[in-house]
Amino acid sequence: MNTPPPPPVLVTRQPAPGVMARLTDRYAVTLNEADRDLDRAELLAAVHGRRAVLTTLNNRVDAEFLDAAGPQLEIVANHAVGYHNIDLAACADRGVPVTNTPGVLTTATAETTWALLLAAARRLGEGERLLRSGTPWTWGPNFLLGLELAGTPLGVLGMGRIGQAVARRARAFDMPVGYHNRRALPPEQAEGAQWKPLEDLLATSTVLVVTCPCTEETRHLLDARRLALLPPGAVVISMTAGVVDEEALAAALESGALFAAAVDNFEHEPSVPSALLAQERAVLVPHLGSATVRTRQAMGGLAVDNILAVLDGGEPLTPVKL
Ligand code: GLV
Repeated sequence: MNTPPPPPVLVTRQPAPGVMARLTDRYAVTLNEADRDLDRAELLAAVHGRRAVLTTLNNRVDAEFLDAAGPQLEIVANHAVGYHNIDLAACADRGVPVTNTPGVLTTATAETTWALLLAAARRLGEGERLLRSGTPWTWGPNFLLGLELAGTPLGVLGMGRIGQAVARRARAFDMPVGYHNRRALPPEQAEGAQWKPLEDLLATSTVLVVTCPCTEETRHLLDARRLALLPPGAVVISMTAGVVDEEALAAALESGALFAAAVDNFEHEPSVPSALLAQERAVLVPHLGSATVRTRQAMGGLAVDNILAVLDGGEPLTPVKL
């Protein structure tokens, strides 16, 4: 006797409240109820026979995954704007569309960027750790002095949606903004920021925010040589894993070349380099950029809408282009 096919949809992590119902109203779904990542063997077994899978950045989707799924797989909907976990060529070879969640996480991620920028520039992590450690302290004219932002030049590396939202918020802090993208944006999208070649941007940005996606061209773009182009005492805020070389960043903090840094996404999550953990001037947070209920509902909702569109025979709403 043939075993019946499994439910058509696999969801690899519990989405935000309210998201699942939109799927389960229409299709039978297998949800990984345990709030942890499936290991590789569990993932490959779980995806077998599905028509759709809702993945996270921690699920590697490659030829092995697609073979384990089988030829009936119609869509991989990634619960992220990024897609470095997915081998797009392998999916394209098999005609499996991949979708991401652009747009809906812009505001939350820009807000987190500013939280980190302020925390790094004003040494909030250090101050918090000091109090919690019970270290004696008193107010003093030179105690834990930070970098004042008004009038300080801000550079945005990667003026996509998130970079533009970060630049827009810089007005509230009276910071002049420069940016680098492969191409200058039309003025109505540039938020008053000035395009500069990469090396000029680095040389003139006392605060640098990195929001460009990590691709073949941008991996470790900010290596030791380019970090050394920043003005002495600069602050670096890294919102994309893989673009800033984490060891080089730690070394630039250690030497005092940088004043401070903050990192939200790490290259080999969940591991965080010990060289960075050793830096008092580094604000390190566990991939919280889009972590609000509203945004996670919108991201999950968009991933679900992509699945429903494809299973209903239509086109994906937000396909990732190869
Ligand atoms: C965030 O990490 C994303 O790519 O959505």
